[in-house]
Amino acid sequence: MGGGIAQVVAASGRRVSLLDAEPGAVERGLETMRKSLTRLAEKGGPPADEVLARVEPVDELVPADLMIEAVVEDAEVKEDVFRRADRTLPAEAILASNTSSIPITSLAGVTQRPDRVIGMHFFNPVPVLELVEVVRGRETSDETADGIIELARELGKTPAVANDFPGFVSNRILMPYINEAVYALQDGVADVDAIDTIAKLGFAHPLGPLALADLIGLDTCVAIMKVLQNGLGDDKYAPAPLLETYVEQGKLGRKSGEGFYIY
Ligand code: CAA
Repeated sequence: MGGGIAQVVAASGRRVSLLDAEPGAVERGLETMRKSLTRLAEKGGPPADEVLARVEPVDELVPADLMIEAVVEDAEVKEDVFRRADRTLPAEAILASNTSSIPITSLAGVTQRPDRVIGMHFFNPVPVLELVEVVRGRETSDETADGIIELARELGKTPAVANDFPGFVSNRILMPYINEAVYALQDGVADVDAIDTIAKLGFAHPLGPLALADLIGLDTCVAIMKVLQNGLGDDKYAPAPLLETYVEQGKLGRKSGEGFYIY
């Protein structure tokens, strides 16, 4: 998702520094961006080279007006990024997280600027889906929220504001739906194709829940369910055992080549 976010920010005319801890990840991200930009250029978007020229791979956090963090859905890892960003970025910079479920207030708590920490939650594939869920932490200032709402609009997105509850709005609704589809598969209610066909044709969704889980990443789905389970204190949010089994087997969805489908 980091690559998709970098792409839409660069396409809006801004310069972007792109950082990933994993060797090779930035290069893979740039390749994905090129493919996406080429498709969009055919429909009247800016030339891919022009957008990519504004994206600079970096090895360390660098000073900037805004950081958008999109690392793994793990509170400790995210807190470490926020601590380091707080030391590196100027005091007036905004620190945003693309987290899909981790409390913004706890990320803000490791910084000296909790008023300038906010959730900026994009949806996959970022260049196509229009929504940005803007999540206000307990201390997020109006100025920070207004700035991020304005930025989302300038990126061609539609912002919607949520308060800082586990899973916010999007994953409070989406993840139990996906998890229940996995239970339906596990219980033998129907096979993968039937479950997804029922959701696609019955509810007019572009993807069925199992194909969508593969797009999001099954490890991310498990992580989000655990945030809901622990954060809301209700075992009705426990990840379906079959979902956890897939993750244990390394079947993470599209990114690993296999999930509920083979890619
Ligand atoms: N970059 C640029 N363009 C892209 C693209 C990309 N990465 N992916 C798709 N497109 C374009 C295609 O070129 C195509 O354009 P035209 O209609 O002009 O030809 C259009 O999008 C549709 O794509 P496809 O024909 O390839 O396939 P599709 O109709 O199945 O659409 C999809 C693909 C956009 C992914 C669609 O299936 C979809 O919207 N799926 C649902 C995705 C969803 O629900 N995402 C939310 C996930 S939740 C999340 O991200 C957050 C979280 O917290 C977990």
